[in-house]
Amino acid sequence: MSDRSWAEPYKIKMVEPLRMTSRAEREQAIAEAGYNTFLLKSEDVYIDLLTDSGTNAMSDRQWAGMMLGDEAYAGSRNFYHLEQVCREYYGFKHVVPTHQGRGAEHMLSQLCINPGDSVPGNMYFTTTKLHQELAGGRFVDVIIDEAHDPDSEYPFKGNVDPNKLRALIAEVGAERVAYLSLETNVNMAGGQPCSLANIREVCTLCHEHGIKVFLDATRAIENAWFIKQREAEYGDRSVADILREMCSHADGATISAKKDGLVNIGGLLLLNEDELAERARNMVVVYEGLHTYGGLAGRDMEAMAIGITESAQDDHIRARVGQVEYLAERLLAADIPIVRPTGGHGVFINAAKFLPHIPREQFPAQALTAALYVDSGVRAMERGAVSSGRDIETGENVYPSLELIRLTIPRRVYTQAHMDVTAESIIALHENREQIVGLRFTYEPEQLRFFQARFEPAEGTRIFRAKAKQAAGV
Ligand code: F0G
Repeated sequence: MSDRSWAEPYKIKMVEPLRMTSRAEREQAIAEAGYNTFLLKSEDVYIDLLTDSGTNAMSDRQWAGMMLGDEAYAGSRNFYHLEQVCREYYGFKHVVPTHQGRGAEHMLSQLCINPGDSVPGNMYFTTTKLHQELAGGRFVDVIIDEAHDPDSEYPFKGNVDPNKLRALIAEVGAERVAYLSLETNVNMAGGQPCSLANIREVCTLCHEHGIKVFLDATRAIENAWFIKQREAEYGDRSVADILREMCSHADGATISAKKDGLVNIGGLLLLNEDELAERARNMVVVYEGLHTYGGLAGRDMEAMAIGITESAQDDHIRARVGQVEYLAERLLAADIPIVRPTGGHGVFINAAKFLPHIPREQFPAQALTAALYVDSGVRAMERGAVSSGRDIETGENVYPSLELIRLTIPRRVYTQAHMDVTAESIIALHENREQIVGLRFTYEPEQLRFFQARFEPAEGTRIFRAKAKQAAGV
């Protein structure tokens, strides 16, 4: 590898001005938002790292494609373009568009899960698991143990443990396993990839038992880039080539195109089997729209077709993952505790280690997102005890092994200087970490509480201890 710098394979043609706020304004905004970054107004945010979902910048070609939207109710030309692109890049025969990823998850779950079935998966994603459960399934985590250890340097922490899968098949019988739900670049593990050797092995294992495999290919292109970097025999292959090989082992895929797909809205259900695809097309007309638009405008499908094509280029994905790695390297150089290895879509900070003086009952990750926002206007997402919720039986808080904040990088949106500002803010907070105080609930919703919960500082009235106390060294 050359030691010369690389840069993005594009230049900026249009900008969106941001409102700059003062620290006092941000202190007020976060207090009004109940110390929950989900409740901040986007116009009060400077650098928005809440999610990489639907927050991507489209290219001039995508915007030009929007003008070519064929808004016919049936048989839009943009659908046929999208179908051709999906077949070319993902290789599945049938293409059913949906309004976003969870629309495809809903249909796949209803079509393939019988009540009481087990659905093995490599760690869960919130909406995927919920749809599997709503269809009567029982989610069983079969990811390798390394995925739960934030310090493990294992290069493919998204892998399925074939022994866990074999044990499940032996326990319930192959006919009670609905399918293997195989997520590429596992989001909740920190954007960690699966190896092609593992995909091949577990797909073969499933097929030997007559069990189908469906990918969550939402971030499959980022996964393909890691295979190219880390799996020796794939170093010379293109990302597009690797992507096709990944998909060639599976029976279908659900995709949220709001990530890899470089659009702001859209999803896909991709299938090989004719009969299953026919049932999916019958179902999409009930829940989403006709099978040639699936809840999307023609222009959205055109932007998606062009976005997928752009996303599967090596130069694009090198810059995309490279920017995430740049931020991670800056934080590592300052000894900030982050999940290793760096993932594809963001940097995850170990908040329990960052703020050891805040007990888990006072939600260190939630407190860190609030402090980061006040310090620099950067918005991150809590991924720890608040997101985990309460145990259904005991009603007690669940404290997962990972108490993290996620700095998720939208694609093609922010510059290296934005990453520097983010890193500098986190480093400054780390140097003064004892000043950050914990939080306690003032309002706690029953379902998915992280979205709308409200908090107050566990001591005093601010997220930082008062200045006088700092001077006194308290
Ligand atoms: N699968 C994965 C792996 C996801 O990360 C998401 C969404 C979905 C499915 C659902 O897709 O939002 O289009 O309905 N993840 C977003 C996030 C919300 O912030 O990580 P959707």
